[in-house]
Amino acid sequence: MKKIAVLTRDCAGVNAAIRSIVRTACHNSLEVVGIRRGYDGIIENDFITLNRTDVSGIINQGGTILKTSRSKKMFTQDGQKKAVENLQKNNIKGLIVIGGSGSLVGAHILASKYGINVVGIPATIDNDINNVDLTLGADTAVNVALDALDKIRDTATSLERIFIVEVMGRYCGYIALEVALAGGCEEVLVPELDVDIDILCKEIEEGKKKGKASWIIIVAEGKAHAHNIAEIITNKTGFETRVAVLGHIQRGGRPTSKDRIIGARLGNYAVECLIKNNSDICITEKNDKLIKIPLSVAIKKKDIDANRYYRLIKILT
Ligand code: F6P
Repeated sequence: MKKIAVLTRDCAGVNAAIRSIVRTACHNSLEVVGIRRGYDGIIENDFITLNRTDVSGIINQGGTILKTSRSKKMFTQDGQKKAVENLQKNNIKGLIVIGGSGSLVGAHILASKYGINVVGIPATIDNDINNVDLTLGADTAVNVALDALDKIRDTATSLERIFIVEVMGRYCGYIALEVALAGGCEEVLVPELDVDIDILCKEIEEGKKKGKASWIIIVAEGKAHAHNIAEIITNKTGFETRVAVLGHIQRGGRPTSKDRIIGARLGNYAVECLIKNNSDICITEKNDKLIKIPLSVAIKKKDIDANRYYRLIKILT
């Protein structure tokens, strides 16, 4: 193996992983090519050489220095053929894909259908990759959301208000559950659980009678829109509500130490796996060990035990 390539999605910790890949490759006398703009970049031959100094000063930066895209072309036969052709033309012997479920599906296609050596690093704030405890970016996203929530709580408490805070999580309630528990919130609505809004409204009315003044309700974007929930609560209880939609601030920002360390460890391990000709795998940390999972398993739907946190959130309210 002489030359490897890396392509990414964006979230905190991705740059730390790119840095680790490039420096581990240099350590093993391999060349590294960065593919710009994700899968669109492979298809359009948008490749750059990455040297040791190109990754200086990026460990603390969010996003991805390689830029990214949500590529539609990669999921067409023509796009895949072009991608394989460009990898071969550039003499690339191994590919590291850093991203969420969509990116890992693309990685699995390249490995299983076209015989490219591919290693996936799970990176998404949603933390929805099967058999992976913690994806790159998720820890930073939770901490960014928590920081915002703590600020919202100051106003909620001062003005005795009900706040509905919407966090990201397209199909998964991971961020919502973490933030609700860590932020001491009264309620959390996630795709994995059915919460009866009538009961929630009764709880609010009862609470108000007993002198409970402010409420913070977290909603995962994959469950409902915060504005709709706010309207229902106001209509049913007569109480004023306020809404905050945190949105993309959760995907950016300075990576936490945890995300930098996961990025560093997985970037290094990905290169080692390619050197050993391991392919069609996703790598992750479990019980402090680095392990390999078949990409075919990683791309299956992840079941999260939402009840474990939900029970506790309600007991601690
Ligand atoms: O998958 C990560 C994620 O941030 C989701 O939480 C969110 O639903 C989605 O991406 C937003 O995608 P985009 O940035 O393309 O709008």
